Amino acid sequence: MKVAVLGAAGGIGQALSLLLKTQLPAGSELALYDVAPVVPGVAVDLSHIPTAVDVKGYGADDLAPALSGADIVIIPAGMPRKPGMDRADLFAVNAGIVKTLAEGIVANCPKALVGVITNPVNGTVPIVAEVFKKAGTYDKNRVFGVTTLDVIRSEAFVAELKGLDVSQVKVPVIGGHSGTTILPLLSQVEGASFTDEEVASLTPRIQNAGTEVVEAKAGGGSATLSMGQAAARFCLSLVKGLQGEEVVDYAYVDIENGDAPYFAHPVRLGKDGIVEILPYGELSAFEQKAKDDMLATLNKDIQEGVDFING
Ligand SMILES: NC(=O)c1ccc[n+]([C@@H]2O[C@H](COP(=O)([O-])OP(=O)(O)OC[C@H]3O[C@@H](n4cnc5c(N)ncnc54)[C@H](O)[C@@H]3O)[C@@H](O)[C@H]2O)c1
Repeated sequence: MKVAVLGAAGGIGQALSLLLKTQLPAGSELALYDVAPVVPGVAVDLSHIPTAVDVKGYGADDLAPALSGADIVIIPAGMPRKPGMDRADLFAVNAGIVKTLAEGIVANCPKALVGVITNPVNGTVPIVAEVFKKAGTYDKNRVFGVTTLDVIRSEAFVAELKGLDVSQVKVPVIGGHSGTTILPLLSQVEGASFTDEEVASLTPRIQNAGTEVVEAKAGGGSATLSMGQAAARFCLSLVKGLQGEEVVDYAYVDIENGDAPYFAHPVRLGKDGIVEILPYGELSAFEQKAKDDMLATLNKDIQEGVDFING
């Protein structure tokens, strides 16, 4: 198993790489790519941890060898938010970075499963898809927007609010990955029920949890440690699928006849990425309205990504 992390020297990249070094199956290869000159040092640092995962660092000119033979590529490369910015403000900088990296994947590992973390995820996932389509290598079952952070935040907040064992809490989160497009389905949480007031306050808390971190870091960036954990959890789901294990996880994926061209759903994973996109079940009246109200924003974000490549 070879996993490439693109943007591996960043806040998310380093946290994710640490978790993968300690959690990937024995015999795996971890390729760390970044344009920052510190990346070989990050690889040397991690290589001193005694696990059977081989780590190599690749600098700016070495995207091709970093990607060559990769089974999974995780992309946290790009600028994070500062206070006062929303994720859409990052598009101008990050769209070009994601395009370049997607072109590298086309040239070096077109069959890899690709997890996109770079914001705005609502638009960067369509960028990757359009680059792959242009090259004739697109397989919609292999491209994922990583929305796991919305899921783990929901688990943490619900457990805290309800005094539950957090390891048992499961919260479906659908839609996109910014503001109101993030839709936690609190009506479907097993073992907990919520008053209308709780739903009305917990839903926006989950939607704005990223901003909570951005403001608390006061200009020092956005979520990196919780995102590293979220990305590792999602990457390990992809690994399990590739190894033939049955696994269901949530991700922002290309969906036919869905609510929007891309939408976060539960997906069954296997040897070729997505085996099946699962339905998200019945929505409460509150969730149905929240979904209807966010679709225009989500569709606009998606179109911006599509137009960046084709416009
Ligand atoms: N999907 C999510 O839930 C989620 C959550 C938090 C942050 N993010 C996003 O993840 C991205 C990274 O955040 P961070 O806090 O790690 O930022 P960071 O600034 O700490 O790290 C970004 C890294 O990307 C590298 N980079 C820039 N251009 C590159 C290129 N062309 N090729 C390879 N590497 C390149 C930089 O050198 C840097 O090391 C941001 O866009 C942020 O908004 C997503």
